[in-house]
Amino acid sequence: MEKSSKKKDFLGFFQLDAGKIIELFDFSLFIKKQRLRASSGKPYKPLSGKTVAMIFNKPSLRTRVSFEIGIHELGGYAVNLEGKSIGVNSREAVEDIARLLSRYNDAIVARLHEHSVIDALAQHASIPVINALTDLSHPCQILADAFTLYEKGLWHDNIKVVFIGDGNNVANSWIELAGILPFHFVLACPDESGHLPDAQILERAKKNSASTIEIIHDPLAAASNADVLYTDVWTSMGQEDETAKRLETFRKFQINSELLGAAKPSAVVMHCMPAHRGQEITAEAMDGPQSIVMDEAENRLHVQKALLVKLLNHEEYRKFHLTHRLQNVANKLKF
Ligand code: CP
Ligand code: NVA
Repeated sequence: MEKSSKKKDFLGFFQLDAGKIIELFDFSLFIKKQRLRASSGKPYKPLSGKTVAMIFNKPSLRTRVSFEIGIHELGGYAVNLEGKSIGVNSREAVEDIARLLSRYNDAIVARLHEHSVIDALAQHASIPVINALTDLSHPCQILADAFTLYEKGLWHDNIKVVFIGDGNNVANSWIELAGILPFHFVLACPDESGHLPDAQILERAKKNSASTIEIIHDPLAAASNADVLYTDVWTSMGQEDETAKRLETFRKFQINSELLGAAKPSAVVMHCMPAHRGQEITAEAMDGPQSIVMDEAENRLHVQKALLVKLLNHEEYRKFHLTHRLQNVANKLKF
């Protein structure tokens, strides 16, 4: 496989700027439409001949299936590696895994525990590395979430996104995004160490001053006038020993009819899933008319395909944007 000295990873949002994120959203809209071409006999295969190694050190449904199907639909091939069978940093040093996979593949998608391991993977790989979730962050999820709001015409500089629950990897990625793309982000989490977001990410995001970012501890106050009510599990993968204690700590941090009543009548409900009805969200909120959870889950497929083309076939990605800009200019000149 070809090595590139200019290879780009996707480990989080701090490597991007607002313009690049919007470009990726526009390309995701295009990619979503291209799926129809497959049924009309003109499939879109910009990853033809490319292979992607996927390392999963934690369970997954959405991430694994959407990446594997996305790579297949784009004409590439995905190699699935269970973390325990390759033993990252136990059977084999992460540096060696990175160098070896770079000889065989065009990219690595990895779901790992410690974030430092994905940093090391990216540092030693000569091919792009994509963060498919670590204990620290889950940027592919938040990319799909923000894209879902953008696609629905709901995204604007003052959109109030309220995350109810744990200051975990998903919350950290929302905060990273708020450090780059302007909006109003509120996290309502317990005021206890272990449930607050990552201090470094928060500090960096606040320093960038792109968005208003609030960390508060009263879920009902947080939900007031919200455009989006968002939640995630109370117990993340790897924290199973703390389940009983967390059930108690997070009791009030639930998206339910009371919180929905405090939000705007037009508010939408989001959840990265897997969901536990009766814990972080009621069945009524999860399955009710304001819920867009299945749209955000589906969009994992489209944004990750867009991301893969951006990282693995930049020429194709650039060609789309040049054409897109020319079309926009032509459309404006008509008036
Ligand atoms: N939301 C998400 O990442 O789901 P999986 O853990 O099932 O991949
Ligand atoms: N915070 C959750 C996200 C699952 C997609 C976890 O890490 O388990």
